[in-house]
Amino acid sequence: RLSTEYLRALPKAEVHCHLEGCVPPETARRLAERHGVTLPAGARDGGDRYLFRNFDEGLEIYVAVSNSMQTRDDFRAVTYESLVAGAAGGLRYREIAFNPQNHPELAYAEMMDGILAGAREARAEAGVESRIIVAINRELGGEAALALVREVIAHPLDEVVAIGLDSNELAGRPSEFVAAYDLAREAGLKLTAHAGEHGDSTEMVECLDLLRVDRIDHGYAALLDADLLSRTVASQIPYSACWFVDYPEAEVEGRRRDVAAMAAAGLNMCLNSDDPALIGPEVHECFIDAAAHLDWDVEDAERHALSGLDACFADEATVERLR
Ligand code: ADE
Ligand code: ZN
Repeated sequence: RLSTEYLRALPKAEVHCHLEGCVPPETARRLAERHGVTLPAGARDGGDRYLFRNFDEGLEIYVAVSNSMQTRDDFRAVTYESLVAGAAGGLRYREIAFNPQNHPELAYAEMMDGILAGAREARAEAGVESRIIVAINRELGGEAALALVREVIAHPLDEVVAIGLDSNELAGRPSEFVAAYDLAREAGLKLTAHAGEHGDSTEMVECLDLLRVDRIDHGYAALLDADLLSRTVASQIPYSACWFVDYPEAEVEGRRRDVAAMAAAGLNMCLNSDDPALIGPEVHECFIDAAAHLDWDVEDAERHALSGLDACFADEATVERLR
């Protein structure tokens, strides 16, 4: 059995991690107090953990924590601290998604400036590379998404490599976002989207056929759709799967089974933390748990640890340097 020390030190890359899900409860409480934001009980009363019983409650905390990040320096500090925390567990590369629409009090350019400053500090001090995905909150609809993509294009930045689509899958079908995705593609951005986590495989098919995504975030519903499964095994489009879900133990077991089945089916899949502070474990803890449950040997561990680089949107020279 692989040791914890080995799995922690193993250089890892991940492409699915939400900045606002990287804020530890103590930091969230400090920011909320500073800016006069009321956090839900699950963010106030759990000590060093967030308390929630289902995805909706987790998302409510996520949005409240997002609302607590209001200044350029909040973004700088959260980005820096989250990357350094990842690097302590062997993280070498992370694609960080964030939701500008969940921070209406701060201009896009200011948020980006803070994030990029934090990323530069973490790169210099901890040797961790990063790129940014601007994520659309699907609950706010297609018009707002289009406005966001226009804003992204008006502020071109090398580090901003893609747009994404997240929040509650049951509250915004991919088909609503065709114009936003078309515009982003024309501007040379890569495209990813959450699908098949809580929604069914028809959401994933829309992402492929209508949004023409380069990657799928989560995608467990493919296991229930034989056509989609064989199509994406053949295309080898990357899936950014996440090892842990937060709430009841039954769901954690179900997720472990899904991820194992995706790998066994031959999908091009990498392992990610999703929301390391909200859900709990950093990416190295995902690897420690996965190695134990899937009985990995060294070869398996090394393959999974860098599979995020096959799925990532960084330029080739950066990827080669990290391999
Ligand atoms: N935002 C943060 N984490 C998310 C997840 N797992 N699914 C959808 N939206 C999210
Ligand atoms: Zn996610």
